[in-house]
Amino acid sequence: MELSQEIVIRPLAKDEEIPYPLLLLADPSKAMIDSYLPSSTIYVAEQEGKIIGVYVLLPIGPKAVEVKNIAVAEALQGQGIGKLLLSHAGHTAKAKGYRTITIGTANSSVGQIYLYQQQGFEITGVKVNYFTDNYPEPIYENGEKCVDQLILTRKL
Ligand code: ACO
Repeated sequence: MELSQEIVIRPLAKDEEIPYPLLLLADPSKAMIDSYLPSSTIYVAEQEGKIIGVYVLLPIGPKAVEVKNIAVAEALQGQGIGKLLLSHAGHTAKAKGYRTITIGTANSSVGQIYLYQQQGFEITGVKVNYFTDNYPEPIYENGEKCVDQLILTRKL
C-alpha cells in the first residue's frame, strides 16, 4: 500500500469493531486499554477501506486531554502516518476547546519521545515506576526495561 493513497482520519463509529491489534501495539495490556476506552473517543486512520492507524483521546480535565494510545500498522510505520495522527489529535482537541494535549510514554521509547518533541510536546512530568506498578509482566523495548512514564504536553 502506498502512502500516496488518501488517508482519512475519523472517529470510530459505535457499531464498528474496536481495532485491538493496533491498540495492543501501543499498550500491551488489554485490561489497561479496556479501562480507558469507555471514557475515550477512538479515531482511526483509514486507507482504501482498511484501518491502518489509531489514536485514543481521553479527557483528563475540563481543558486537558490525553492521547492514551497511538499506533500505526507495523508494515506502514516510519512513513509519516504517526505525525499525521498526532497533528490530527492536536487539531481535534483544539476544536473541542481543550487547551493542552498530553501524551505519556515509557522511558525506553526513544523514537516516540523524539517524535513527540518534534511535534511540539515538552516533557512536563515523570510517573516513577508507572510500568512496574501497573503492568503484571515486565515490558522490554529496545532491550531496555519500561519502568517510568514520561509525560509530555503541548499547549493548543
Ligand atoms: N524509533 C525511532 N524513530 C521513530 C520511532 C521509533 N520507534 N517512531 C517514530 N520515530 C521517528 C521517525 O524516525 C520520524 O522522524 P523523522 O521525521 O525525523 O524521520 C518521526 O518519528 C515520525 O515518524 P512517523 O513515520 O510519523 O511515525 P509512525 O508512522 O511510525 O508512527 C508510532 C509512530 C505511532 C509510534 C508507530 O511507530 C507505532 O505504532 N509504534 C508502535 C506503537 C507505539 O509505540 N505507540 C506509542 C506508545 S505511547 C502511547 O500510545 C501513548
